Order: sequence, then structure tokens, then C-alpha cells
Amino acid sequence: MSASEPRRQRTAELVRQAEQIMPGACLGLFQLPLDRTIVMERGSGPYLWDVDGNQYIDYVLGSGPMILGHAHPAVVAAVQDQAAKGSTFYTLNEPIIDLSRQIVAAVPCGEAIKYVSTGTEATFHALRLARAFTGKSTVLKFEGGYHGAHDYAMVGTLASAADRQGWWQPDSAGIPRPVADTVLVSPFNDAAAARRLIARHAGELAAVIVEPLQRGIAPAPGFLQAIREATRQHGVLLIFDEVVTGFRLAYGGAQEYYGVQPDLATYGKAIGGGYPMAAVCGRRDVLALTDPSLRGSGSYAYLGGTLSGNPVAAVAGLATLAEMRRPGVYERLFATGNTLRQGIETLGRDLGLPVRAIGEGPVFQVFFTEREIRNHHDSREADAALAWAFGLELLDRGLFHTPGAKFYVSTVHGEPEVARTLEAVEGALRALRTRAGTTA
Ligand SMILES: Cc1ncc(COP(=O)(O)O)c(C=O)c1O
Repeated sequence: MSASEPRRQRTAELVRQAEQIMPGACLGLFQLPLDRTIVMERGSGPYLWDVDGNQYIDYVLGSGPMILGHAHPAVVAAVQDQAAKGSTFYTLNEPIIDLSRQIVAAVPCGEAIKYVSTGTEATFHALRLARAFTGKSTVLKFEGGYHGAHDYAMVGTLASAADRQGWWQPDSAGIPRPVADTVLVSPFNDAAAARRLIARHAGELAAVIVEPLQRGIAPAPGFLQAIREATRQHGVLLIFDEVVTGFRLAYGGAQEYYGVQPDLATYGKAIGGGYPMAAVCGRRDVLALTDPSLRGSGSYAYLGGTLSGNPVAAVAGLATLAEMRRPGVYERLFATGNTLRQGIETLGRDLGLPVRAIGEGPVFQVFFTEREIRNHHDSREADAALAWAFGLELLDRGLFHTPGAKFYVSTVHGEPEVARTLEAVEGALRALRTRAGTTA
């Protein structure tokens, strides 16, 4: 698709149908104005096509899972083969045992693993497991960190300290106040504040959960180490939410990349290769509490679901991990992401716009601000209206991207896509500058 008018006839009809029965005509938080809403039909490699045949370079990657790009031949073949043998069995199967062995071997904290279907379930169960193991009730998370949609996760994520009215407003209506009150929130990258809260609440604190790379914000040197030391000192479990970073920042995820080992880690997105698959992985003595033979002992922690260990998702995950083990994959992934980030910042500088593209290699986020972004508060000070307008300009230029949110880069985004992307970014930034009435 070019900056010229896109074709929208079929899209408009389908959006009209969706609007009548799907509130907001969207699937979750990702909502575009109705006249810009896209109905996607198919994907191949780094590209997507909507139902009217408009093509996009994809930087959403299904919100992260499609790290190999769309319809990767190895994943498609594995899924077709398994689907013909049966889709789900509700019992052990060879693919899930293979996947377990591979994840446990790859992940520094990996001693044992159990499965669910979504990242939300994984963090929910990891927190419950931590409460079961420690016998304590409170958890601590970081302001702006996203751990999914359950009641313990949707506190201090979208809102900011500035919105606080004596207590943390949950990010969703319908969350019971007593549940929200069991969640402490600390600013990301402030080791002293985290240490203080952990020490002060040690007697009631079961776990600290953190996105090691929080959205696009990298941990400051020593921050993850500080929360590792404080949690260990005070008998609190440390959970890395690696739903995004797992097998993406490195084969061993953020714990390998940043060199800090948590007690538990949660996985999703990449380990299912585009199919519903998520996991809690970590210390054997903690995961041991999920053994149903403990039922009735008072220490059993329920973990599981209808589709847990689904073999179709497992073979998709196995095919994905096999590709990620190929020599040079991470080097290329990081090189592509870094070229894009640097290119975007350079274009911003050349055009006199305060553009920051923050992140690590294949995950980054674009902000319009002069200030360094070290935490959620800094990111909320950036110009959100400009970021939104930028995102819409990119969509109009054939980049599929969630305005204001992260860019994900796949292993199949190559030089032609990078060149087209930077051309689109330049066009978008020029359009914003023109609209703001400035010239250079
Ligand atoms: C870091 C992190 N944790 C948890 C989740 C929740 O995963 P899901 O959407 O599969 O429930 C997400 C989703 O984006 C995430 O980014």
C-alpha cells in the first residue's frame, strides 16, 4: 500500500458487521479509528495483506509470537503434520515433553516447567505458586509493567502514580479492591525504592514480578541485580516475566541477556510459534507444588487448563526454537532492529523532531520527547498525541504497527523491508512536521 488512498470496500463491510456485535470493533486494546480499522486476511514472512489486498510490512508480529515471520514453512509443516494426527489429548504427548526438555535446558533458572495457554495465565499461576510456596499474600510489580489481564496484573500498568488517589486505581473496572490491595507498585529502574518496599513488606511479600525489559525500557545497570539480592535476602521469590523477552533477547531470554537468574520465569508468545502456548518455568522445589498428588495436603497449587501442553502448539514451538538455534540468528535479529532504531532516531534528528527509539534489538518503541526514558513516568511525559499521529501515518504508508506501542522485528525482516520502512518513517515524520507548521 502507498500513501495514496487504500482500497477499503470489503474492509468497510466487515468492520460494519464487527461493530454491531464486537464492542469497539476490536479484539483487545488495539483499536484504530473505524475508518482506519484493518481486517487482515493473510501473512507471509514479514508481510501481511488485508481483505482488500493492501500489503503491509508487519511490525506487530501478532503482538510478538511470529518471531520467524508469518507462515514460516517449518512451522506450517509441523502444524499440518500434527493436526492430521490429532489436535489435543489432555495428557502427556511427545511434542510437549520435547519442548519441556528444550526450554528447561535453554533457560538459566529452568529446572521444571508447567504449561497454560496464555501469558496472562502464566503470570497468574506464577504469582499463585509464589504465594503457595512462601505462605505470604502480597506481590510487588513495577509501574507500567504489563503482565496480562488478570486481577493481580492490572494494577499500576496503564495508570501512573500521577493518577493515584491514595491507592492504586486498577487498570480495569471490576477488580475487587481487596485484590488490588495485595499488589504493591514500585517505579521501574529505582533500585532504592524497590529495596525499601521489599524490606518493609518482607513479612507479607511472596514475590516480585518484573518485565526485565519493561515494554521498551531497558533495565538500568544494577537494577535487576538489586532486586535479585533484596528478594533473596528477604525470602521473596523473584519472577521474570519473559513472555516478550523469552527466546527473543537471547536463546536463554532476558536472564541470559542481562545475566540475572530469577526463581521463576513465565513464557508465552515465541514458544508457541503463533499458537496458544505459555509456561511457568523455574525452581523445581517451587514447581513441585503443582504435583496433584499433593492434593489435600494444603500446599498443592493448581496449575493447568484444557489446552495445556497442546501438541499442535508444541510442535509450532519446537519448529520455532529449532530456527532460533541456527547460527547467526540473534546477530541478524539485533542488527535489523538496531538499524531501524538508529535510522528512525537519525531521521528525527535531521527533521528537527525529538524522536527516541528505545529498546533492545528486536523490540523497540518510539517516543517523542527530549528526555531520557527510564521509567513509566518518563514515558507518560512524552508526546502521546504525536506518537499516535506518527503511528497512523505509518499505517497509511503500509507499515502495520500499533500506534504508540512496541515494534517487533522478525528473523525475516531484511534489507528491503528496512529500506522501505525508513522511507515510510521519513514520509511520516515529514507529514507530522508539515502539520505542526514547521519547516527545515
Ligand atoms: C510481558 C507480558 N506478560 C504477559 C502478557 C500476557 O500475555 P497474553 O496476552 O498471552 O495473555 C503479555 C502480553 O502482551 C506481555 O507482554
